[in-house]
Amino acid sequence: MCGIVGYVGTDQSVEVLLGGLRRLEYRGYDSAGIAVIDPLGRLGTRKRAGKLQVLIDDLEANPLANGATGIGHTRWATHGGPNDENAHPHLGDEGRLALIHNGIIENFAELKAELLLRHPATVFTSETDSEVAALLVGLEYQKTHDLSLALRTVVGRLNGAFTLLVLHKDQPGVVVGARRNSPLVIGLGDGENFLGSDVAAFIEHTHRAMEIGQDQVVTITPDSVTVTDFAGRPVETREFQVEWDASASEKGGWSSFMAKEISEEPVAVANTLIGRIVDGAVHLPELDTLGAGVLEGLDRIVLIGCGTAAYSAMLGKYAIEKWAKIPVDVELSHEFRYRDPVVSERTLVVSISQSGETMDTLMAVKYARELGARTLSICNTQGSTIPRESDAVVYTHAGPEVAVASTKAFVAQVAAIYLFALRVAEVRGTLAASEIASLLGELGAVPDQLAWVLEQQDSIKQLAGWMTDTRSVIFLGRHAGYPIALEGALKLKEVAYIHSEGFAAGELKHGPIALIEPGQPVFVIVPSPRAKDSLHKKVVSNIQEIRARGARILAIAEEGDVAVLPYADTVIRIPLASTLFEPLLAVVPLHIFAMELASAKGLDVDQPRNLAKSVTVE
Ligand code: G6P
Repeated sequence: MCGIVGYVGTDQSVEVLLGGLRRLEYRGYDSAGIAVIDPLGRLGTRKRAGKLQVLIDDLEANPLANGATGIGHTRWATHGGPNDENAHPHLGDEGRLALIHNGIIENFAELKAELLLRHPATVFTSETDSEVAALLVGLEYQKTHDLSLALRTVVGRLNGAFTLLVLHKDQPGVVVGARRNSPLVIGLGDGENFLGSDVAAFIEHTHRAMEIGQDQVVTITPDSVTVTDFAGRPVETREFQVEWDASASEKGGWSSFMAKEISEEPVAVANTLIGRIVDGAVHLPELDTLGAGVLEGLDRIVLIGCGTAAYSAMLGKYAIEKWAKIPVDVELSHEFRYRDPVVSERTLVVSISQSGETMDTLMAVKYARELGARTLSICNTQGSTIPRESDAVVYTHAGPEVAVASTKAFVAQVAAIYLFALRVAEVRGTLAASEIASLLGELGAVPDQLAWVLEQQDSIKQLAGWMTDTRSVIFLGRHAGYPIALEGALKLKEVAYIHSEGFAAGELKHGPIALIEPGQPVFVIVPSPRAKDSLHKKVVSNIQEIRARGARILAIAEEGDVAVLPYADTVIRIPLASTLFEPLLAVVPLHIFAMELASAKGLDVDQPRNLAKSVTVE
């Protein structure tokens, strides 16, 4: 939530900041703003409600003096509505200092009251918590003229989560940042340095990056980077190479990032598997940092995540219990965090997060560690916070995901958790080596199968085009198809604003069947007729039950499954795959359907209303 960029270097700050904000806009798009110190030492700011383009158009019509030092912000509103006044930057020290903020300052009301008591003439121009921080840093700066010290003094008094960046017109060539539970990374350039909410902010300019820990302060100049704790003591830093390619976070010729990212689902899985299947066995040395004997000694695994990541966690449960025979619970991170979960040192809490920054998940990971559990992160973003707070990390290699609704990250997460499940089965001897090799063979075939499913994009687009007036869609699935039903419903809500619900097909007759009336569209994820269980027959019966009540059936069924034909209005085919691999294929038509339906309604699929990609507030 909220994208932040800071820059010191050449006299092109405006271009660098707007480029960074363009790549960070998925984090929030209620308003945007920049502040720049020009060569004459003047501080110029511009901020506008609306998407980044509104700010860009404004700057084109009425340019801001360029300079070598600047900060920029794209907002997802928390305190105060999305208008020009509440947009960042906010000013302090009588307009000489500018500050941007991501997060929530929980004690801002007390701080504001105190400020007004000490300085009754203070004028607030916004309703934000951030402006209070700007004013406080300004007052501290007046005492010492040391910007880093001023920021450190103020952050020591703030409660909540924040990343703050400040600059002062009397300190050209300096940007100071601080973070607590909110993301910030450093980009290391040649004669220029960067700060960003994530590496996308500066990926156009450098692939050298540095992590900043919790409760740390960073000062960048064109030639130096200094990181300290809040008390001003130097701390150790870790540099890393950004693996993402700048072009990977460009839309290219695609109509939307969502379209591009769906098309990348095969490569997201392939890249997540590369180097991790060696001679028919799983190669995940990343798990070693969990500690010797930890996997062998586990008595329980808890999988946590939010949104789409929580559905990949559900698939993880099926896989781990089937292959590794360990009891698994799946929980939404925010539910896990705020009850009294029973965990011990023999519990492994596995968090799943594309961004690595989701606050609910981060807090749940920290809580799990406090309770003594071991923690593993499955994450797509290098340099993000959740992996840093975990004992071990298995990265998915889906590449940057920009569209707010997660698609390619989902299939990559499932691939990673399946690898993990098979590794645990290997370690605990619950599957024979030959069985593991065969399952890895199936996993390795998924990218090609995904590519096959993508070839049906046009027919799904046609279907979506016919359904633009639809007001409600139901999704049904059983067993591993159930999380896919939930994911299909979530995607449709998120991007097409259509009321949709996913149900376990077996639950239908316990309530949801009352919703069925003539013409009600129902997507059904049909299990394979070849599986040894009787799920296929059961789902075909469910289809008949709702068909008899007038439902319009949209079946996702494997090639050659003729049993569904008499009852389905539309059949979308997926290749033959076994029970746990089928969901990876069945999800793709649902991703395409949501995107095409939203596009047919003329909606912005990349930036749906009210949402933000990286939810860094609880
Ligand atoms: C937001 C996004 C979802 C995403 C969820 C979890 O709600 O809109 O698409 O699935 O966050 O994000 P994470 O980065 O933790 O996977």
